[in-house]
Amino acid sequence: MHKRNYLALLLALFLLLSACSVPKEENPDDAAAAEAESPADIAGTPEEAPEPVEEPEEEPVEEPAAPQYLLPAWDEALPSLWESFDGLFKVGAAVNTDQLKPDTDFYRTVTKHYNVFVTENEMKPMYVNPAEGTFNFTAPDQFVAFGEEVGATLRGHTLIWHSQAPDWWFRGSGENGRATREELLSRMETYITEVMTRYQGRVAVWDVVNEAFSDQGKGLRMEDEGSQYAAIIGDLDGDGNLNDYIEQAFYLADAADPDAQLIINDYSLENGDAKLDSFYESVKGMLEKGVPIDGAGIQAHIQIGWPSVATFEKAIEKLASLKEYNPDFKVQITELDVSIFAWDDQSKIKEMTPQLQAELATRYADLFDMFRRQAEKGNLDMVVTWGVYDGRSWLDNYPVSGRVNAPLLFDRQMNAKPAFWGVVDRTKIPDACAEVQTAQ
Ligand code: XIL
Repeated sequence: MHKRNYLALLLALFLLLSACSVPKEENPDDAAAAEAESPADIAGTPEEAPEPVEEPEEEPVEEPAAPQYLLPAWDEALPSLWESFDGLFKVGAAVNTDQLKPDTDFYRTVTKHYNVFVTENEMKPMYVNPAEGTFNFTAPDQFVAFGEEVGATLRGHTLIWHSQAPDWWFRGSGENGRATREELLSRMETYITEVMTRYQGRVAVWDVVNEAFSDQGKGLRMEDEGSQYAAIIGDLDGDGNLNDYIEQAFYLADAADPDAQLIINDYSLENGDAKLDSFYESVKGMLEKGVPIDGAGIQAHIQIGWPSVATFEKAIEKLASLKEYNPDFKVQITELDVSIFAWDDQSKIKEMTPQLQAELATRYADLFDMFRRQAEKGNLDMVVTWGVYDGRSWLDNYPVSGRVNAPLLFDRQMNAKPAFWGVVDRTKIPDACAEVQTAQ
């Protein structure tokens, strides 16, 4: 070929190629892709070009439905627990002062739902009176200030108890280094007077004596079941009965704050067995003598399947019949929680399936229906749960170490459980459980 023709052909070819190729940058949609593509891709011949890949059909993404039931405990859309029973009985919870910081979700939760508070541990003698003559009121003062600020009724827990007493309490100048009757009576007087007068008119209800009865229905708890009170103080009035230390405690409490409601508190009374009978007989005897006892506290650390609501209700009725001896006598539920395990079940964890949630919710619904009936009869004036949410319950690790429980109305994230709905509106249990299913 002639050299000029050859050049002309080259020029023509160049022009043709330039006209056919659309520079990538000219297509704005592809601009970013062009940057990302490798030079090898761009240089590919038509034969090498990959088949156009079919875009997979996009699965419609289902938006999770906004929760209607399992809402945060402080959410305004949830009914308030105390308002749900207003005029029937008060509703409370055990708290710890480190949880009571204003402007927190916990604070918003407790002020929304409860009109009664009690300290879980901080008003027990081992913390308040750690050494003879030394009183530590820091936490109790904070608790009482909180209660006054929010206008709640406060329970003082607890004055006379064999457990969580300071080390020095039962030691003294008696035989084997034990406190004498006089020493122990004088300590009781100092303690009850000091603590109750400090909070006179501010703490309305006191668990004056806690867990004083034998688990075997043998009457009083004695040394074989961990209490030295009866053995040390003995029979002061010579009536052959060793409950004099209980009587003294109530007289002292009444003298310190005559307007306070004075409660004798114990566990397992709701099971309706020999322990209830001996508790009842003893309190009846004291009321007949004029001991100022204003009510019986049923702790109610119960389980999902035990005892039956009917048995529990009979126990309330039996104790409430003591109003024959003191017309103001009331029953209070003081430490309610519903373990999802049998007491000594050694399993460490149980999945909160919708079925288990429904079972717990129904259990709570049946209980609160019964509490309502009892309040309507004038038998019951207060129901307190032992804690607020599952994330901080004494039943984690107790009585089985490492066991994770779910005994309360709010879950570990402090969201309402179906059990919450069981308490405020049992017709909502199925929908709340359906929401558990969706969330899982
Ligand atoms: C429990 C507290 O919840 C625990 O934190 C503590 O370690 C032991 O005491 N009956 C009562 C309560 O009267 O004081 C107990 O509280 C639970 C059983």
